[in-house]
Amino acid sequence: MPFQLSSALHTQPTPFYHYDLALLDRTLTALQQAAKPRNFQVHYALKANVNLPILERIKNQGLGADCVSGGEVQRALEAGFAPGHIVFAGVGKSDAEINLALAADIWCFNAESTAELAVLDALAGAQGRTARVALRVNPNVDAYTHPHITTGLAANKFGISLTDLPAVVAYLGSLPNLELVGLHAHIGSQITNLSVFAKLSERLNELQTALTDQGHHLPHLNVGGGLGVSYEHPDEQAIPDFEGYFSMFEKHLVRRPGQQVHVELGRAIVAQAGTLISRVLYVKQSQQTQFAILDAGMTELMRPALYGSYHHIQNLTSTGPEQLYDVVGPICESSDTFRKGVQLPQTQRGDLVAIRSVGAYGEVMSSGYNLREKAAAVYVGQ
Ligand code: LLP
Repeated sequence: MPFQLSSALHTQPTPFYHYDLALLDRTLTALQQAAKPRNFQVHYALKANVNLPILERIKNQGLGADCVSGGEVQRALEAGFAPGHIVFAGVGKSDAEINLALAADIWCFNAESTAELAVLDALAGAQGRTARVALRVNPNVDAYTHPHITTGLAANKFGISLTDLPAVVAYLGSLPNLELVGLHAHIGSQITNLSVFAKLSERLNELQTALTDQGHHLPHLNVGGGLGVSYEHPDEQAIPDFEGYFSMFEKHLVRRPGQQVHVELGRAIVAQAGTLISRVLYVKQSQQTQFAILDAGMTELMRPALYGSYHHIQNLTSTGPEQLYDVVGPICESSDTFRKGVQLPQTQRGDLVAIRSVGAYGEVMSSGYNLREKAAAVYVGQ
């Protein structure tokens, strides 16, 4: 079904984020149907969307929380995620953030350097606690995605390089307040070539064998997130290919007896449930180009300006013969362009426009640039 806006929302002040909780539920059901029989535990990556009604839904389906800041840990707790289902990752955790997570007794810290381990050990000791740690490795596997969201290559700032890992494991073993519980890897986001997860699995298998040979027992493996969605076909492919994703790991990842495997998905869970609704302020014809100027801009959806990313755009009001428009926002930057050369029915001032697949990395990356007001969030399908 193409996106439709209920008539009650036609008078809602624009721009606003429109979240379809019924689609979120269907997505979560499909996700758990693929994950549970294969014995994978899913942690939701809060960075994709932190709105409480969404988090509560996700928590109620039994997912854990993957957080990358003290603020996200706090938000996860506020949404009711059990501390034992919260992971804290990130290449630059501050002392205050670590202390907050230690005090909450979260399940595990994904640590990325010896410098971080030293701080974590000292802070855990000061609180009289033992911190559980999974070491994030940089597996040097290409995810074949946008360079800005590739994280698992040797050139990226993330993770511990494969050659350094044995020394880091030994160092961790010398620290009294840390307990090694597993390995973590995340190679990138918006991954559509699923074969990269086979490569990741093989790399993790090699690492596990090496660590087991050295006498380390790893009860826990976290293979990261990154499953992509179809920005081109948000209606036809509203539910991502969870079966394909999990079967890659099922086939290629060697599990030790009793070992727990976590994935931490963000985008695949929430992207398609969110739509940015905006109104056309002006249609402007320049010498070369016809512009549809919206009341939403890069302040509400930064992805096109930042990554040149595609979002499907629909005129919800006008029908009839199509014309070409550069769909732009009101912000004082030429990069404030949703897309150039969009085919839309002849568009007029006041038309409602839907920009699709913004549930992930849309609202969370919004800004107040140009002193813009924060756009509202509206929930349907409850
Ligand atoms: N785990 C780690 C360690 C991550 O860094 C990320 C995303 C995830 C999990 C979740 O990845 P997902 O399943 O959502 O792909 N702002 C960018 C995306 C940045 C992703 C950063 N890390 C965008 O708008 O495309």
